[in-house]
This record gives sequence, structure tokens and C-alpha cells, in this order.
Amino acid sequence: MNKNVVVGVTGGIAAYKAADVVSRLKKHSLNVNVIMTKSAQQFIHPLTFQSLSQNYVVTDMFEEPKTWEVEHIALAQKADLFLVVPTTANVIGKIAGGIADDMLTTTIMATKAQVLMASAMNTNMYNNPIVQENIKKLKNLGMHFVEPAVGRLACGDYGKGKLAEPEEIVNEAIKLLSINKDLQGKKILVTAGPTKEPIDPVRYITNHSSGKMGYAVAETAVARGAEVVLISGPTNLENPVGIKKFDVNTTNEMYEEVLKHFEWADVVIKSAAVADYRPSVVADNKIKKNDDDFSIKLTRNPDILMELGKRKKKGQVLVGFAAETQNLLENAKKKIQKKNLDFIVANDLTKKGAGFKSDTNIATIIDKNGHLEQCAKMEKKELAEKILDKAKILLEE
Ligand code: PMT
Repeated sequence: MNKNVVVGVTGGIAAYKAADVVSRLKKHSLNVNVIMTKSAQQFIHPLTFQSLSQNYVVTDMFEEPKTWEVEHIALAQKADLFLVVPTTANVIGKIAGGIADDMLTTTIMATKAQVLMASAMNTNMYNNPIVQENIKKLKNLGMHFVEPAVGRLACGDYGKGKLAEPEEIVNEAIKLLSINKDLQGKKILVTAGPTKEPIDPVRYITNHSSGKMGYAVAETAVARGAEVVLISGPTNLENPVGIKKFDVNTTNEMYEEVLKHFEWADVVIKSAAVADYRPSVVADNKIKKNDDDFSIKLTRNPDILMELGKRKKKGQVLVGFAAETQNLLENAKKKIQKKNLDFIVANDLTKKGAGFKSDTNIATIIDKNGHLEQCAKMEKKELAEKILDKAKILLEE
């Protein structure tokens, strides 16, 4: 694999394991440059990494570079992946705080490459809320982490903090290197989850959407290098990493939020299950029951996708979904025309393993030229890849 990995080694007891990591990376025929912090040199000698990487080891920002090649900006630009192993609480804190006072932190600050951190520290340090806050901040900025393993630590404590095995670290690095960033620079707007239409302060109308389909699209897009805005109804899903997420409840709120971002987007993928109707009147207080039947008058909500179809600019790709229980293809085709879609992802909710809540979906992708792709049951992430592949082709047209 003709890629460049810059390995940052910091001053943790596990620094010696970084040698094994470098040796394994070399076996994948990767080019490896090593940067060592001052404290790392207390644990392992630069010469070890020089012989393993077959490149000069950078140990000090102000040292005369042996060749122009190791100048810190050059390293930052050269890296396809920046791997910090072990990553101490100190380095996490410095990077999260924007401190760049040595070669390692300066190069990370300057690189556009993906950053993978294999953290290792005492369990109590790792569980410290400050460290966890810093990790969360870096994850939200799109940095990747290999979690520490649980076990007996050098200090005698037992718990989560040991550096993960070199093999696991290298596997993660290879995975990141092999993901093709074919959506780099593309702006993708995704809607996901249900909407909630209030009846009174206690009750509301919603649907079974879990958000999994939309979150799968958003996460896959960001992994492929896209800039992603996710507008999400209420779900129980973890906030996806490296994505700007806006939470909404009602269709009107989703409508407002989507229109705010529509101009910005190259691609819009509308997987949210949007309520077509809302209670005409929302009671200020809890509606008390009595012995009679009770009916609620519903009012039409805006059709967000229809509105986007009207506003769609040349070069924008608009993708809708169709959630049907009958006449799937007929209903889906109607939506393509009516809403000026580029293609639609139609799923029959009555099929086992399709639609709401499941980790899988069974969909038919139909484009505006009538071309139809029948997708077998697959993980929603896999379907997300297909949807993004199709959107990418349309963007390139
Ligand atoms: O979230 P999961 O549990 O993973 O389930 C996934 C899913 C079943 C929700 C998803 O695969 C799906 O089918 N999403 C679309 C659900 C839906 O509202 O389909 P629809 O046929 O009612 O709407 C058609 C399209 O118009 C959709 O893109 C929808 O986002 C959009 N719409 C609908 C109504 C409305 N008022 N405004 C809209 O924009």
C-alpha cells in the first residue's frame, strides 16, 4: 500500500509497543516517519525507530532538518494517516486545547490527514471527566481513537487503560487508509428519524422510525470524506462522530432547519419519516378523558421534499425515500416525478428485515429515468454505500 503514515510516539510506559506497531506498518509496505516527543525519548531510543522505519526520526522541532523532507509542515502534508501511539492524557489535552509547542502537536495541528490515536494511561486518568471531554471533542472533530484495553496496568491498578494490542492498532490504521475518501469536499444534508406532533403537553403523534437508516447514510458519508449536516428527529442513537447534527421534533421544525441548509448542500438525502399531518389544535393542558369517544382534527404539514424539488438548483442531487405498505413501485415512481427527485429509495415496510428499526433494509432504488435497482436485504450501512455511490455518479454528471 503506497501510503505515508506519520507515527507520533509520546511518553507513556507503552512507548516500547510503538516499535512493534512501526514494524507491522512496514510489513504492509507503508512509508513510516516517526516523531517522538521529548518524554517519549525517556522510554525508548530514537535509534530503534530509525532502524525500523528506515527514515530519520524527528525528535525536536528546532533541530536542523536532515533533509527538507522532515520539515514539520512537509510531514503534515505528506501524511495519509497520522497515528499517535501511545497517546497520553497530556497529548490529548494539548491537541484538544490547540496547543502546538513541539514537533508532534505542531504537525498534527498542520495536517489534513486523518488522525488515529491509540490512547493508554492509568485507569483513573482515563476515566477522568476532563480526559473524556477532550476525547469527545476530538472525536467530534473527526479524529479516530483505538480504545485502551482492560487489564493489569504497569502501576499495578486493574482496569481500562492498557494500550490496545499493536495488531488491533495497525488493523484500524489500515482500515482508515483503505477507505477511499471519494466524497471529499462534498456537502451532504441528511434527514433521519421520526417527527413528533404534539396533541397536548403529555401526548403526541409519531411513528416507528429509529433513525438508523439516516444515521447510517450520515456516518458512511463522513467516512468517505463528505461534510455532513444531519437533521434528526428524536432517536435513541449515539451522536454520530464528525457530523453537524440539528435536533428537531415537529415537521415544521424540520422544514425550517432543512430549508436553512438546502442551498449549502450538494446532495440531500431525506430518510426521515416525516408526519404529513399534525393536530390542528395543541391543547395547553392535558386533555382530560371522559366516557365518550374522542377525535382529533388533523391539519396538513408542509411536504418538505416537495418544496426542495421546487427549489432544487442545477447540480444538486435530491434523494427521497418511499415508505410503503402496498403498490411500492407505483407509489415510489409517482413521488419521483411529483417531487422532482433524482432517485428514490423505496422500502416495503411490511417485509421482514425492511424499514423501521431493523439494522437491515430491503430497498428498490429507482431513478428519474425509470432505471430500477432491486437491492436484496442488507445492512443499512451497506444500503447507505449504494445510495452514496449513486449520488456520487450523479454529482459527477
Ligand atoms: O429510521 P429507521 O428505523 O431506520 O427506518 C427507516 C425508514 C423506514 C424511516 C426509511 O427507510 C424511510 O422509508 N424513510 C422515509 C419515510 C417516509 O416518510 O416515507 P414517505 O413515503 O411517507 O415520504 C416520502 C418522502 O418524502 C421521504 O423522503 C420523506 O422524508 C419525505 N417527506 C414526507 C412527508 C413530508 N411531509 N415531508 C417530506 O419531506
